[in-house]
Amino acid sequence: MQRRPFLQFAGLGAIALASAAASLPAMAQASGPFKIGLILPMTGQQASTGRQIEAAARLYMAQNGDTVAGRKVELIVKDDVATPDVTKRLAQELIVNDKVNVIAGFGVTPAALAAAPLATQAKVPQVVMAAATSSITEASPFIVRSSFTLPQVSVAMGDWAPKNGIKSVVTLVADYGPGNDAEKFFTERFALNGGKVVDKLRVPLRNPDFAPFLQKVRDAKPDALFVFVPSGAGAAVMKQFLERGLDKAGIKLIATGDVTDDDQLNDMGEGALGVVTTHHYSAAHPSALNKKFVEAFEKANKGMRPNFMAVGGYDGMRIIYEALKATGGKGDGQALLDKMKGQVFESPRGQVLIDAQTRDIVQDVYLRKVEKKDGKLYNVEFDVLKAVKDPGKAK
Ligand code: PHB
Repeated sequence: MQRRPFLQFAGLGAIALASAAASLPAMAQASGPFKIGLILPMTGQQASTGRQIEAAARLYMAQNGDTVAGRKVELIVKDDVATPDVTKRLAQELIVNDKVNVIAGFGVTPAALAAAPLATQAKVPQVVMAAATSSITEASPFIVRSSFTLPQVSVAMGDWAPKNGIKSVVTLVADYGPGNDAEKFFTERFALNGGKVVDKLRVPLRNPDFAPFLQKVRDAKPDALFVFVPSGAGAAVMKQFLERGLDKAGIKLIATGDVTDDDQLNDMGEGALGVVTTHHYSAAHPSALNKKFVEAFEKANKGMRPNFMAVGGYDGMRIIYEALKATGGKGDGQALLDKMKGQVFESPRGQVLIDAQTRDIVQDVYLRKVEKKDGKLYNVEFDVLKAVKDPGKAK
């Protein structure tokens, strides 16, 4: 029951792929332009993710040049509307017709999973810049992830909350892969620390109406509500939380940083002040590199503030560029993949590592509180867990 929507997506993909996969020899080009097929939701409910990642990828190219190891780098952006059937078709067209060297992007988990068998079959690296269900990296040995995982950030909240007076919680998550991960890993850690999860609520991914769920939370009167919804849906949760007076009823809002997304946070209003979240990136991260990144991003995009999706896209481009350099400009998929594994570098989020075994990202996870700085709302970091591996892998 719990995993049904997730399996539905996977099942659809598997049937449709059986025929496609057989006709995919390795065909990436070894000369001419080096092509990156960037598949993103540019329209629909997840469009802010596409907008952020495309802007970040273009910024990376503007800052680092569009010729690497003698090869011109070409970015081909395609809109999959976060719909797995479309993702799969676009990935196939990019691999077969455009002969791309890398596929990248993937705004949601079902999209990343739909493309995975094609990456395996064609031996084309798949750089997942957004989607964050733990199991994604296991769907293909050609997947490398530059975003994060929900277990990585949810466990940190399961430790923080009980130490800060929160003994009872209701969880509210989007009902698919990353939501299920957030619910499971938060709940397990919170319970281990003596906390009690009194109810677990799941809202549909498509066109969610949070109101009836929040009414249930109000009636249950927990110390706090723990939320995961994907980037772009956080403002609606915040609005409904305040409109239903949950804050006035003494219920705290705690969440993964997807809810206080930098793309929307400044428009959420003063009601968001004080909300504590755990995540791997804040536009307010106080490093010199991040200050430069935020300034350049805002300048290139009419003041748009970069969010965690932008950083996933920016670092994903770095991983591709450095692998291309290290292979001396060869477009060979296996050689590129080998040079993506084990990269260590300073990201605008802090120090990161691409774990050579899991191909997943190891990174710092921050405790943050919404505060006003220079008249604007930011997630201000107040504590950090260093070098966190995805806890979802330790099965
Ligand atoms: C996902 O679908 O994996 C996903 C999307 C948006 C997020 C986090 C995870 O903010």
